[in-house]
Amino acid sequence: MVGFITFEGGDGTGKSTQIGLLETYLIAQGKNCTTTREPGGTSLGQLLRQALLEVGMRSISSSTELFLYLADRAQHVREVIVPAVAQGKIVLCDRYTDSTMAYQGYGRGIDLRLLVKLNEIASGGLKPDITFLLDCPVEIGLSRTVQRKLQTPGHSGQDRFEDEKLEFHEKVRQGFLELARAEPERVCLVDASRPEQEVFAAIKEVVDRRMGY
Ligand code: TYD
Repeated sequence: MVGFITFEGGDGTGKSTQIGLLETYLIAQGKNCTTTREPGGTSLGQLLRQALLEVGMRSISSSTELFLYLADRAQHVREVIVPAVAQGKIVLCDRYTDSTMAYQGYGRGIDLRLLVKLNEIASGGLKPDITFLLDCPVEIGLSRTVQRKLQTPGHSGQDRFEDEKLEFHEKVRQGFLELARAEPERVCLVDASRPEQEVFAAIKEVVDRRMGY
């Protein structure tokens, strides 16, 4: 049974495009799907997301940032993900526990074993059935993100994370790759530097196999 699928990866790796393509595909197969994301998958989460991602806000410490992501997850799991899975829906989620490991752990240097425990509390122990890790060189991902934001009216082309140094994003990328190596049965590594239809073909193949299509 596949009920909970997460998408992970650095900024600009095309997660939302791939989630959209997979959702359309699954609906065409007659599946009932819910698409959601972290941070911001609940109304409380929207407030937390705004606090986390706005440019020009007061600086926040790494621990504060960590607890806001965990608070967002704790609410999201209980309010959205668990009820949807219980109704037999397939939940497609943009970012989850691996993002905390990669950004707050590998990126900011917070102890990884501690993060495993905190993630366990926040997620109530709910693990994804499949995680797609969309991987591409940091420079490609960031330039895609800046382009996308520049096309959004009123957006400066940056947010707090995209202001981080390349070095930070490189650590995050290597962290994600390490997580994929540690749990190959759950995490499926996808080369996201290819055209989007090729990336989707790789994702679809795994989903078809796991769902027995
Ligand atoms: P978002 O605009 O959703 O980025 P993207 O479109 O690339 O997914 O911003 C989410 C940001 O939050 C992203 O830079 C990663 C960060 N993040 C963490 O640092 N820790 C977490 O646990 C989560 C869920 C996200």
